[in-house]
Amino acid sequence: MNILVVGSGAREHTLVWKLAQSEKADKIYAVPGNPGMAELAECIEGVSITDNAALVKLAQEKNVELAVVGPEVPLTNGAVDAFHAAGIKAFGPVQAAAEIEGSKSFSKNLMKKYNIPTAKYEVFTEAEAAKAYIRAEGAPIVIKADGLAAGKGVIVAMTLDEALGAIDEIMGDKAFGSAGSRVVVEEFMAGEEVSVLCFTDGKTILPMVPSQDHKRVFDNDQGPNTGGMGAYAPAPVGTPELLAQVQKEILEPTIKAMEAEGRLYKGCLYAGLMVTEQGPKVVEFNARFGDPETQVVLPLLESDLVEVMLA
Ligand code: AMP
Ligand code: GLY
Repeated sequence: MNILVVGSGAREHTLVWKLAQSEKADKIYAVPGNPGMAELAECIEGVSITDNAALVKLAQEKNVELAVVGPEVPLTNGAVDAFHAAGIKAFGPVQAAAEIEGSKSFSKNLMKKYNIPTAKYEVFTEAEAAKAYIRAEGAPIVIKADGLAAGKGVIVAMTLDEALGAIDEIMGDKAFGSAGSRVVVEEFMAGEEVSVLCFTDGKTILPMVPSQDHKRVFDNDQGPNTGGMGAYAPAPVGTPELLAQVQKEILEPTIKAMEAEGRLYKGCLYAGLMVTEQGPKVVEFNARFGDPETQVVLPLLESDLVEVMLA
């Protein structure tokens, strides 16, 4: 079958590389793709990945039977819904389910409602109320812009001044645009992080090998947070015992919660976890493969990715 991969990063290069190994894959297209993947896929320029109608038209013209949407922006923009409406199979969550990444307040409220372990938090739309809460809680404390901010909308404040400054930056100066008109202020969690990328059909959820990405810039993690600058897998912190606990206390309840909310989640669910003294807790959910985690996790996947995605 012909396959269309949406996106242009190293994550999408890895997806193309892995899909190309399948006997089921004929021609692979990438929109817009990148020069690195051009040996394996035909890269198509001039189609915006946030233009759902244009994506569908392209898929129809190229007789695409499976579309794979990589980045969060087209996923939260309903690209998968558009492919489905045109009768084209598409891998990734529909718009209503991608909200688990698109809005931090949505995902935090979901976790609270369904008792999924995560940091204690409050959601604010007013800077003064956020600041009062921060003064009452003290530092260290974590401030997050509600919407998508390319992995940069999170400030882990070690001092009160830094935390209050973050509120001014996000809500006053709008450093992350409209993503910051609402903020989540949450408890600082100490521990080691682990990323668990999972395949799910909405009912069953199967994790890939655990990985870890390098988040903060500068040596010895001294700089600000980034979307991730490198990764490795398998991450030893993800022991079989830990993963069994994650499956039972986090992954299965989350999939059930999304179904109960009428937001059946299919695709890759990325659980970003902190392994704390009280056990694993959710730092964030992403509605897609991690970048750069995909570059280290998919090479370790023995199964045929096309078959997995069709399932
Ligand atoms: P997020 O975008 O929510 O994954 O946050 C980005 C990064 O900030 C995470 O990968 C962590 O390194 C850090 N972080 C986020 N929330 C917390 C928290 N509650 N406690 C400690 N570190 C956090
Ligand atoms: N590496 C973090 C992410 O993909 O969001």
